[in-house]
Amino acid sequence: MAKLPDHVGIDFGTHSVKAVELSGISTNKPTLVNLGSQVTPKGVINSEDIADQKKLADVLKRLYDASAIKNRQVVMALPEFSVFTRFFELPGVKKEELKEAVYYEAKQYIPLPLNEVQLDYVPIGFNTEKNAPRVLVVAAAKKVVNIYVNIAAQAGLDLLSIETESVAMGRAMYKSTGKNTLVMLDFGANSTDMSIISEGYLVFSQSIAIGSDSLTQAVVNKFNLDTQRAEEFKRNYGLVDNVLEGKILSVLTPIIESILVEVRRGVEFFKSRTLSIAPTDYVLSGDGALLPGLKEYVAKSLNANVMIAMPWNNIIIDKRFEDIAMKGAPSYSVAIGLALKDE
Ligand SMILES: Nc1ncnc2c1ncn2[C@@H]1O[C@H](COP(=O)(O)OP(=O)(O)OP(=O)(O)O)[C@@H](O)[C@H]1O
Ligand SMILES: [Mg+2]
Repeated sequence: MAKLPDHVGIDFGTHSVKAVELSGISTNKPTLVNLGSQVTPKGVINSEDIADQKKLADVLKRLYDASAIKNRQVVMALPEFSVFTRFFELPGVKKEELKEAVYYEAKQYIPLPLNEVQLDYVPIGFNTEKNAPRVLVVAAAKKVVNIYVNIAAQAGLDLLSIETESVAMGRAMYKSTGKNTLVMLDFGANSTDMSIISEGYLVFSQSIAIGSDSLTQAVVNKFNLDTQRAEEFKRNYGLVDNVLEGKILSVLTPIIESILVEVRRGVEFFKSRTLSIAPTDYVLSGDGALLPGLKEYVAKSLNANVMIAMPWNNIIIDKRFEDIAMKGAPSYSVAIGLALKDE
């Protein structure tokens, strides 16, 4: 595959749009050239409405202006909740039959006609016991892909490539942790995305439709606070048990647990599909990962090694960017992964 030039990675979140530009992406130590974020207007993500797409293009223009980003070549991510990612093993299928077998298999799982879907697959090894090639299938509705093509065009940007958030995240986590087997949990505003990287390959991903805004909403409902106040309580106290008599903790715990139920299910699915053991390392990203006590809570509940993502590891950061890059470091993970894509 052709090498990609240095470019800007753009992550469209429901809460904020984040951009990261790196140089020297094929080297061991890329350099941060620029970064920035802007708040996302409500209800515009993944909208097919032209007016909403224009709003997102305007966000990009503001982002470019505010951060004085010059490079107009970009790579974008499709939100995880709009893609289908599935790991398949295809017993007895020969190499030359692979493509047809993948389509046949995918047809049974993807809820859209295949001609409306952009489908890619990556071979990821072979199960010798079952004589089965393994593939990861990634599919997205063409109409969703088109939304991002339109937004880039409206903003006057040159879209080099589109991938999924989990693929970008996997790249960022591998480069920053050096670990090639781990579970990634991205705590976003509207959803929590889970992916499993096994021996360097993305083998599982799912979007859990409960995000960090649900935590704020629960505090609003329970204590009859306005959203801003509830957000402060959430960010200040989180899952710490010895403040406010554990009142915030007891409101947030059931929601975190309902996310972790899905995480456990995801791990069981992965184990049954791949006959592998469950990964023991977890990395938490997204702004929601900043919730006080979350890391300790997840570690205890899942009996795992848990770390907060530090996607800036192994990236050279000039003094003038240090503050913004380090404040809420895990939130730039997807944008960094996109910026690191080099082929
Ligand atoms: N310090 C903090 N502690 C706890 N939660 C926080 C903190 N800062 C931000 N959040 C929460 O993180 C969420 C936003 O995270 P993020 O910016 O990663 O989302 P996004 O990428 O825009 O959304 P999504 O990935 O769901 O599309 C919000 O729910 C916000 O309340
Ligand atoms: Mg996000």
